[in-house]
Amino acid sequence: MDRREFLLGSALAALPAFAKSGAPYGSPESHAGRIRIAHLTDPQFGFDWTPQDNEAKYAADLARFESAVARVNDIKPDLVLITGDMTHKAEDLARDWPRLLGMFKVPVVVAPGNHDMGQMVSKENRDRYLSVFGSDYQSLDVKGWRVIVGNTQFWYKTELVDEQLKYEEWLKAELEKAKLYGGRVILAGHIPPFAHAFDEGNSYENYPKEGREARLLAYRNAGVKFYICGHTHRMSMHGYKDLVILNAETTSLNFDRRPFGFRLFDAVDECDWSYKFVNV
Ligand SMILES: [Fe+2]
Repeated sequence: MDRREFLLGSALAALPAFAKSGAPYGSPESHAGRIRIAHLTDPQFGFDWTPQDNEAKYAADLARFESAVARVNDIKPDLVLITGDMTHKAEDLARDWPRLLGMFKVPVVVAPGNHDMGQMVSKENRDRYLSVFGSDYQSLDVKGWRVIVGNTQFWYKTELVDEQLKYEEWLKAELEKAKLYGGRVILAGHIPPFAHAFDEGNSYENYPKEGREARLLAYRNAGVKFYICGHTHRMSMHGYKDLVILNAETTSLNFDRRPFGFRLFDAVDECDWSYKFVNV
């Protein structure tokens, strides 16, 4: 076991709610309310350290994502969740995504990332995003679970202040409704509430510290048990009290040197769940 595996193992051991796996794929065993979500994140076509290689990298990232789509279609989850940064440059969003969305044989929902909306959310970027993906926040019922998919860029700078307020109101109402689901609630967004510790300072990788803990408490009060996210390009499993925060491998660039791929989240309830790696 190398140091990286050891550290990951320690992190998993420290998680209070990390639990036994569900039934293997294709098993005849079925649970009422069992949900399986393929979690893909940060496809970010064209993300490279060397700008001159963007086009070649775009093609490689795209090909890898197409392989991921084929794996997802084989697995047949209940839902595909892609947690943002769909392309490296927002202008490229409409280039391949309409075609790619049509390749999935299961329902797909997308949470927008900073590369999609911009560090300063603009009308131009948001309109482009909406024209490709339909909506930038939504909620849905899947197998008795409430899945709330948010636009975390509204926590940061935006030209669209009215839209930001509308989003805050919507999320508040959604969390209120979610209380009826008795803890079968999954929240998804591009940015994680925190990257390492809930009280860490502001950085590129987390929610603004001001209001962060209040948001986490509001999630827990609504019965949210899982927060599924991306952005850091590192696989991680964190906990805030009984809220589990999951971040998957990408298909573009993994800063923790994990292999390319995605995760299959499989849950019966808050105690019986798994988050398995699928290599691409
Ligand atoms: Fe990001």
